[in-house]
Amino acid sequence: MTHRIAVLAGDGIGTEVMPEGVRALEAAAGRFGIDLDLTAFGFASCDYYLEHGQMLPDDWHETLAAFDAIFYGAIGWPDKVPDHISLWGSLLKFRREFDQYVNLRPCRLLPGIQSPLAGRAPGDIDFYVVRENTEGEYSSVGGTMFEGTEREVVIQETVMTRTGVDRVLKYAFDLAATRPRKKLTSATKSNGIAITMPWWDTRVAAMAEHYPEVEVDKFHIDILTANFVLHPDWFDVVVASNLFGDILSDLGPACTGTIGVAPSANINPEGRFPSLFEPVHGSAPDIAGRGIANPIGQIWSGAMMLEHLGHAEAGAAILAAIEAVLAEGDPSLLTPDLGGRGTTTGLGQAIAERIADDG
Ligand code: NAD
Ligand code: IPM
Ligand code: MN
Repeated sequence: MTHRIAVLAGDGIGTEVMPEGVRALEAAAGRFGIDLDLTAFGFASCDYYLEHGQMLPDDWHETLAAFDAIFYGAIGWPDKVPDHISLWGSLLKFRREFDQYVNLRPCRLLPGIQSPLAGRAPGDIDFYVVRENTEGEYSSVGGTMFEGTEREVVIQETVMTRTGVDRVLKYAFDLAATRPRKKLTSATKSNGIAITMPWWDTRVAAMAEHYPEVEVDKFHIDILTANFVLHPDWFDVVVASNLFGDILSDLGPACTGTIGVAPSANINPEGRFPSLFEPVHGSAPDIAGRGIANPIGQIWSGAMMLEHLGHAEAGAAILAAIEAVLAEGDPSLLTPDLGGRGTTTGLGQAIAERIADDG
């Protein structure tokens, strides 16, 4: 069976890490005999916008819906196109219109990487952030009144639906139930956000009734961020609303050394639409063009994509190759965010060779 993959590199370092993501996928496909058919598109980038006045072609929905998955780099170049235009015109549209309501973001301290948290070793940080990905604080409900006057009013509503919240909670509880520790933490703020968040807590409590084997706790988002830093070993599966999950999924990977390694899966669990796999990081204009971006977030996202497509062994082999190269700790291969002097291509090639070699 052929898996058709749409490849969207995007902007900035997205275009630098994507070739390494593809190299790793091809190495795994060769070793495990997986038939991947990759098709690259130039849309969903700020350069496309400058040429066409929109981020996507009019027929983007049918074009991408025909693929089994989307492999995506990073979008955004605020000096060319305002971020809310480029992101709402592409990534956020994909998440909503392809109903990718789960954003699964592993945070794992990998061997060979120094955590910025004192005394933490691999095994101490190993959890998932499960982020609600289609509603919540990222809503288009609201508007501006009396614009440009002293009476200017700006409103943006948080929208939570029972269907939307229950389905992501169910995913998170199901995941927790498969993990050895079977622990789920809910990110709340029911002391201050007094309508949506107390209701979120009741939905978590209602879902918990169906999972007596899962240990459940909750923290307000403010102390939760502190606990990510002070006690990362407390966490196993952390479920959060769209904005809280966004914040936690940069903080978690930062605690594991660098956001450059962090992967994510934007999943439509029912498989009605393609799911999308991308690193957590953005286009990093500050380092773009220098060939020093860490490609591991992109490569690990490819591993998650293969697992999603039914090739768990191939996904695991990619992660094992990442871990093996990191454990060797060769500074001429590691990128600067990992403390080395290596390049995107050098690290990507070393990982791809390891994937192929271990066969
Ligand atoms: P960013 O993730 O691009 O960069 C934050 C910091 O992390 C920068 O110092 C950057 O150099 C570093 N960094 C990020 N990825 C790295 C990697 N692979 N290797 C080494 N260092 C890395 O976040 P930002 O600066 O807030 O955003 C830049 C642009 O990217 C904006 O347009 C933003 O909207 C967009 N963005 C897009 C996505 C996405 O496409 N999913 C995610 C986040 C931000
Ligand atoms: C992410 C990013 C996006 C988000 C931005 C670029 C809109 O930060 O994927 O985490 O907020 O979801
Ligand atoms: Mn983010």
